[in-house]
Amino acid sequence: MENADQRPRVALVTGAASGIGRATAELFAARGFTVAALDIAEDRLQQVAAEASGSERIHPIPVDVSDRDRVGFAVEQVAATHGGVDVVVNCAANFLARGIDVSPEEWDAVLRVNVRGISNVVQAAHPHLARAAGAAVVNVASISAHIAQPQRWTYNTTKAAIVGLTRCMAMDLSADGIRVNSVSPGWIWTPEVAAAAADGGRERWEPVWGRFHLLRRLGEAAEVAAAIGFLCSSEASFITGVDLPVDGGYLAMGPEGLGDTSSFAGSA
Ligand SMILES: NC(=O)c1ccc[n+]([C@@H]2O[C@H](COP(=O)([O-])OP(=O)(O)OC[C@H]3O[C@@H](n4cnc5c(N)ncnc54)[C@H](O)[C@@H]3O)[C@@H](O)[C@H]2O)c1
Repeated sequence: MENADQRPRVALVTGAASGIGRATAELFAARGFTVAALDIAEDRLQQVAAEASGSERIHPIPVDVSDRDRVGFAVEQVAATHGGVDVVVNCAANFLARGIDVSPEEWDAVLRVNVRGISNVVQAAHPHLARAAGAAVVNVASISAHIAQPQRWTYNTTKAAIVGLTRCMAMDLSADGIRVNSVSPGWIWTPEVAAAAADGGRERWEPVWGRFHLLRRLGEAAEVAAAIGFLCSSEASFITGVDLPVDGGYLAMGPEGLGDTSSFAGSA
């Protein structure tokens, strides 16, 4: 996959040491992109660079996305080394879920990564994206952007903010030919979800959490990466400013769907 100037296209993926970010890095590597893999977790990042599929195209860059100066430096390094930046995918997240008892420090921590982190990366990459043909950004939001969940003021608010931020970015960057979209994954089997399922593992929890989705199962990181890959491709050339649920029907389902539908006689 080459740009007009014959260099391989460059994808910059944050949160690339794990889960959806790693699957996205692997997908772009498989499509011939050079991948700049940014993550705060240096050890796991090195592991990805050593063992991920297409790892020869994946370049690990340890960085905290909430550190604006370091993000700026990292993005400039990527552009100087590889000739530009064509695609940005923001997967890094702070999963902190707090409700009524949230502290000011906790609010700052989650906003700093989930919202300002995305702004930092896109601000730094913007001049390079503006020079690339067919440039695209995908921000990873969540079903949690669209619904209420108990004790989740922090996480859900930042995910809703990502959907709004995506629309504003799509408007402002359209003049430079840059498309900006978001995806809202349902429950995806990644290390974060596996940690929540520590007591009993996937065998115990998939039947429970899978019922929240019309497809009655959890999603895979590669299924989200595939949707991100589509939104960044020329096949999505007239799509910008949208949020695409990749959720097995989670957001389409009303609460009746959780019950035994054969015995549901009500109508609204
Ligand atoms: N797994 C799910 O069920 C699910 C559902 C909806 C949305 N999402 C979203 O998908 C994205 C990826 O989630 P995942 O499940 O793959 O999680 P994950 O924990 O597997 O990966 C997240 C990565 O982000 C990195 N990260 C955290 N803070 C960072 C920082 N400050 N700077 C740089 N990197 C940082 C972590 O080190 C980790 O490698 C997140 O935005 C998450 O909110 C996940």
